[in-house]
Parts: sequence; C-alpha cells; structure tokens
Amino acid sequence: MEKIFEVRNLFYQVGDTKILKDINLDIKKGQYLTVVGPSGSGKSTLMRILASMLSSTSGEVKFDGEPIETYEPIQYRQRVSYAFQQPTLFGKTVRDNLKFPFEVRKKEFDESKAIEYLQMVNLSADYIDKSVNDVSGGEKQRVALLRNLLFPPEVLITDEVTAGLDAENKDIVHKILSEFNQQGLTILRVTHDESEIEDSVDKIKIRNGEIEDD
Ligand SMILES: Nc1ncnc2c1ncn2[C@@H]1O[C@H](COP(=O)(O)OP(=O)(O)OP(=O)(O)O)[C@@H](O)[C@H]1O
Ligand SMILES: [Mg+2]
Repeated sequence: MEKIFEVRNLFYQVGDTKILKDINLDIKKGQYLTVVGPSGSGKSTLMRILASMLSSTSGEVKFDGEPIETYEPIQYRQRVSYAFQQPTLFGKTVRDNLKFPFEVRKKEFDESKAIEYLQMVNLSADYIDKSVNDVSGGEKQRVALLRNLLFPPEVLITDEVTAGLDAENKDIVHKILSEFNQQGLTILRVTHDESEIEDSVDKIKIRNGEIEDD
C-alpha cells in the first residue's frame, strides 16, 4: 500500500523539554491506526504536527510524498482533518457549525445532508436549531465530528473523540468511522479506551515522547 505519511527523525521541544524524541513512522493510505500511551506522553502533540497545527523542532513529515510545509494550510486542513480532544462549538446554533464546512468550500449549505448526518450520530433533525449552549458534552463531540466528516478528508485524526460518550453512542461513532475507513479514509485514532485498544488491528504506543515497540 502507498504511504500517506512518512515521519522521519521528528523532534518537538519546548524550552529544554523534549516532548517528542526521534519519531519515525510510516502510515499507509487507508490504514486505521490506533495511537495509545500514557497521559502526557505526546500523542496529541504528534497529531497536531501531522495536522499541520504545530511545527516540529526538527525532522521531516511528508504527506502524500511532499513535505508538509509545502501545502497551503487551508487546503491541507481539508485533506487532513483533526477532531479535537476537547471540541468547541461556535456561533449560536448547531446549524452554524454544520454550515461551516460548506462555507469554507464556498458551497451552498445542504440542510438535508446536515440533517442526515445528525441522524447518523443519533441526533434528531430538530437538533439543527439547538443553541450551542444547550448541547451536552457528548452531543458536542458528535456535532464537532460531523464538521470533520461532512466533506470527507483523506485523513481523519480523532483525538479521544469517544471519551465522553456512553456505550451506545460510542458504537455509533465506531460504526461510522469504520464505514468511512472502508471507503478509503485513513484514520489515526488516539484513545485510552480499553475496548477500542483491544479491537484495534494496527497500533502504536507512545511513551515519554518516543514510539515504543510492543
Ligand atoms: N506548548 C507546550 N509547552 C510546554 N509543554 C507542553 C506544550 N505542549 C505540550 N506540552 C507537554 O507535552 C507533553 C505531551 O502533551 P500531549 O498533549 O501531547 O500529551 P497526550 O499524550 O496527548 O496526553 P493525554 O493522553 O493526557 O491527552 C505534556 O507533558 C504536556 O504538558
Ligand atoms: Mg492528548
């Protein structure tokens, strides 16, 4: 399989603190890679670098064969989408959030598509008019995830996106992500969830800023 990411000798340092140390990693197109490791080990930092939201101190990241810095950030974000560990909703209503992916692409908002996506994550059609202040934590995570998926990227990075969800809604999210993965989406999933870790086929562990062999 073709490589979508090639990471070579990557370091990330803040002051004297080395947060990531000599990371080397290949990710294949279509892979569903689970990233595990203790809290504070550097998982989100690595994901933010791959999402081009943070620059490494040294080393190289290639996306689709080219250094990550050569891509135009707005276009890059449409190809590599990061679902945050602690998402925030913006604007006034859920609609404002689901409209956003259309706006950045200068497309007309497709309300029926937005509603269809809400229903996919177990939220009813009337949710679209719900105030962002009245949305629960677990609902917020699902709405935020839809922002990432309405126009599927090539790579989706999910950073503990199921952490606040009950078993039923976790399963819904797992099912959707599997379906997108089967259609070719590359997924990098950061998780502490025992059952997700057990179910994962491809897995890397980060400990103390380094990739640890199992
Ligand atoms: N800008 C920064 N300045 C100083 N320290 C930072 C900075 N960003 C991250 N860190 C530190 O780097 C380490 C790795 O953080 P990171 O968020 O990547 O961990 P994580 O593996 O995602 O943890 P968790 O599982 O709790 O989400 C932590 O010790 C964190 O405090
Ligand atoms: Mg994290």
